Amino acid sequence: MDYLQRAKKILQRIDELAAISENDGFITRTYGTPAFLSARNKIAQWMKETGLSSRVDNIGNIRGKLLSNNPAAKTFVIASHIDTVINAGKFDGPLGVLAGLDLLKNLIQLKTKLPFHIELIGFSDEEGCRFHSTYLGSKAVAGCFDDHLLQLKDESGQELAAVIEANGGHIAELTSDAIPKDEWLGYYEIHIEQGPVLYEKNIPVAVVTGIAGQYRAGIIFNGENGHAGTVPMTMRKDGLACAAEFVLAVEKLAQQYNDVVATVGKLHIIHPASNVIPGEVIVSLDLRSDNEELLLSSYESIKKITAEICQKRNCVLEWNLIQYNKPVICDTNLSRMLVESINKSGHELVTLVSGAGHDAVTISTVAPVSMLFVKCFKGISHNPLENVEPEDIAVAIEVSDNFIHELIKTNNL
Ligand code: GLV
Ligand code: MN
Ligand code: MN
Repeated sequence: MDYLQRAKKILQRIDELAAISENDGFITRTYGTPAFLSARNKIAQWMKETGLSSRVDNIGNIRGKLLSNNPAAKTFVIASHIDTVINAGKFDGPLGVLAGLDLLKNLIQLKTKLPFHIELIGFSDEEGCRFHSTYLGSKAVAGCFDDHLLQLKDESGQELAAVIEANGGHIAELTSDAIPKDEWLGYYEIHIEQGPVLYEKNIPVAVVTGIAGQYRAGIIFNGENGHAGTVPMTMRKDGLACAAEFVLAVEKLAQQYNDVVATVGKLHIIHPASNVIPGEVIVSLDLRSDNEELLLSSYESIKKITAEICQKRNCVLEWNLIQYNKPVICDTNLSRMLVESINKSGHELVTLVSGAGHDAVTISTVAPVSMLFVKCFKGISHNPLENVEPEDIAVAIEVSDNFIHELIKTNNL
């Protein structure tokens, strides 16, 4: 089968997955929901059809392994995620999983002898939309899943621990799903760029050299509910006015720098009503930079400014750090092999630092990581307009085929 035909098959499966959603009319598949489970079953079925035995681990990742004849061989992981944001596009995550499955199918068909095992993983939670904590799936595989995460609650009050158990996982066995550090050979992920560089340059793929560091925090402004008609403006403790000032302060701070981005994507008023002064208001903060020092100092500045806003407005601040990841540098050896594969395919070489988070961030704590970005329509992502052309997927497959074969050759030496 030629690369374009392989790309079309991948696209057909991406469309099939996109039809599985928590909502009618738009794509949402957050961690552990019935839609998520049904999409995962579909992938298990495709793995089986490909001749790959698969299993679901305790955190809910779907994992298929192609074995080397050498039982003591190391493991190379090819992966991406199967959860989505709310009102998502169809490529963010599924492209990497289904392209990975295609790469393994090719190896199976060619009866390729492997000097290492290859494990294909569909990670269960990269977006972190349900529990506001990212990388649950890859944390379990990297062996850095912290048990305090089990107490996280979703908006309906369900605990992560209960969701894991209800879906057939066992929280006591999460650690057994980790790939031990000394068994890793490396990690590779194909993902859409989610930014405009490749689209503007009209180049199909890029090598990712690094991934921005990221803070996620949950912030609560505790004011006081009161009567909208009777409490004078000077005597209010308005949690929403605090939050409003916070949103603009966050934007202003990030605008001072070229390489800092900050977003308040969630705002939740407890007991909202048009004639009640908002008391408790919960917001999210997402802060990113590939410059570690600047990331740390921006985070501290935002915290300080927020405390000042609360003091001025007589509200009590509760600040919960949910996640911090340092900027990640992709492995130079694997990236060099990707560069060579792109050169071989005849396409111009582009290297990019990812502003988006990826499971590679977590895996980088235990293994050398590498990523290939694929051009997407106008760089639009986390949006139903997300789109990727079959011709660009075909190039990604060609480059990845070459990359894997080169990796096999190198490890056979
Ligand atoms: C995931 O897409 C993220 O970067 O938050
Ligand atoms: Mn993603
Ligand atoms: Mn995403």
